[in-house]
Amino acid sequence: MKPFQVDASVVSTSLARALHKKRLEQEVENYRHHLEEMVAEQTQQLREALREVERSYEHTLEALGVAIDLRDSSTAGHSRRVFLYSIEIGKAMGGLEHELKNIAMGAWLHDIGKLAIPDAILLKPGSLTDEERQVMQRHVQIGYDLVKGIPFLSNAAEIILGHHERCDGSGYPRGLKAEEIPVGARIFAVADTFDAMTSDRPYRRALPFAASREVIERGAGKQYDAHVARVFLSTPDETWQEIRRETAAIQVFSVAAADDIQALSRLVKPGS
Ligand SMILES: [Fe+2]
Repeated sequence: MKPFQVDASVVSTSLARALHKKRLEQEVENYRHHLEEMVAEQTQQLREALREVERSYEHTLEALGVAIDLRDSSTAGHSRRVFLYSIEIGKAMGGLEHELKNIAMGAWLHDIGKLAIPDAILLKPGSLTDEERQVMQRHVQIGYDLVKGIPFLSNAAEIILGHHERCDGSGYPRGLKAEEIPVGARIFAVADTFDAMTSDRPYRRALPFAASREVIERGAGKQYDAHVARVFLSTPDETWQEIRRETAAIQVFSVAAADDIQALSRLVKPGS
């Protein structure tokens, strides 16, 4: 019951201290919030910069693919079709999710080495002499050498080097057999045969799908990887027809090839 004595200066000091503490806490909170905003902003800028880099390499790849098709006029649209066929087979095989990007890029750029083959050989209408054939076959090594030094294409380079290998060892340049050949090149071999047979050539009309299916069926386990051939044969014709329809609508000179590359980017992004 003693009189309650209050020292005004003590109260005032305590209050000032509490207010100061509160102010400091608020400043820390503001600073933290500001930092978060800065991080979010920087992340967004970085994301945009990366997207820009991605876009520029997509355009570079697109231009290369179009250049390859332009160089070899008898195969107009070929790179684009085998690119899409290979992705389709790779996806249907399953377990190749991490390889799809390389498979797709390898198929897209498989004949890049042909850019260095002289017209007299590349565009020769008749059959090639042995010597000319040897020069022509160098396109796989030239393509490999061109691409292997580019980090994001180094795995695709192996497919470029192996795209004329055959499972029975009858291919070139190294005569590799079965699983010695990168899986992307084994997939490509089936896609390539299918496209070659079902496309018009200067010396013959396109053959029906059934005829090319038969060739791939006969060559399964020999020229072609048995599993790849099985997956190809179990895919309905409509899937291949749809790809042909889509690609037929694209002119070689069109920039629509970008759609293919964008499809590739979506394909290799997590969660897509
Ligand atoms: Fe080739």
